[in-house]
Amino acid sequence: MTGTSTSGARTGMDWEARFRADDAPWERVGVHPALPHWADAGAFKPGSRILVPGCGRSAEPGAFARLGLAVTGVDLAPSAIDWQLARFASENLTGRFVITDALAFRPDLPFDAVWEQTFLCAIHPRLRPDWEAMAHASLKPGGSLFALFMQKDEPSGPPYGCAMDAMRALLPDTRWIWPETPLTAYPHPHLNDKAELAARLIRRPAL
Ligand SMILES: C[S@@+](CC[C@H](N)C(=O)[O-])C[C@H]1O[C@@H](n2cnc3c(N)ncnc32)[C@H](O)[C@@H]1O
Repeated sequence: MTGTSTSGARTGMDWEARFRADDAPWERVGVHPALPHWADAGAFKPGSRILVPGCGRSAEPGAFARLGLAVTGVDLAPSAIDWQLARFASENLTGRFVITDALAFRPDLPFDAVWEQTFLCAIHPRLRPDWEAMAHASLKPGGSLFALFMQKDEPSGPPYGCAMDAMRALLPDTRWIWPETPLTAYPHPHLNDKAELAARLIRRPAL
């Protein structure tokens, strides 16, 4: 584990306090159903490197480690990182976890993949360009952004809705290749069945 703890000032939410109070309705039981779907399609190659920004206490970093991927989880909440470290230690898994602002995180070596799950919808929409810059800078050209876009009509948040017209503007065709097939919707069982739309985007080379 590396890095220093930062407050939630940029995001307007004290995430550490939420974890300490065990007030985390965004957490799914087990892995997101899109993960085994993409895994069955061969999307996650053993030995490849994957970044999970805003990993929280999610099950996905452990799942990626068990699939043989080299996983890096980033979160600004120390309790979440402690939870991940304890989980990895208990299962004898290998992974790297960093306590820092994921929006400012830049890896020494770009990743093969980024897993976006309820992090983008957790940050204020004004911070979205920082999120896109982080995702683009963190990936190799040709790398994959596995994104689960939270659909929600109410303007308040978090979670802030990630309407698809806004996502298309945030992740433009000049920088990302979007899937040509319709996106699969996964209801979130603890967030009133709000749909998350699953998209695998490919990072284009920088222009
Ligand atoms: C809604 S939770 C989602 C956690 C996890 N992805 C999951 O699916 O359970 C949002 C997470 O983002 C983290 N977070 C919020 N802003 C962050 C930032 N700027 N840098 C790193 N982590 C951040 C919070 O600490 C929290 O763990």
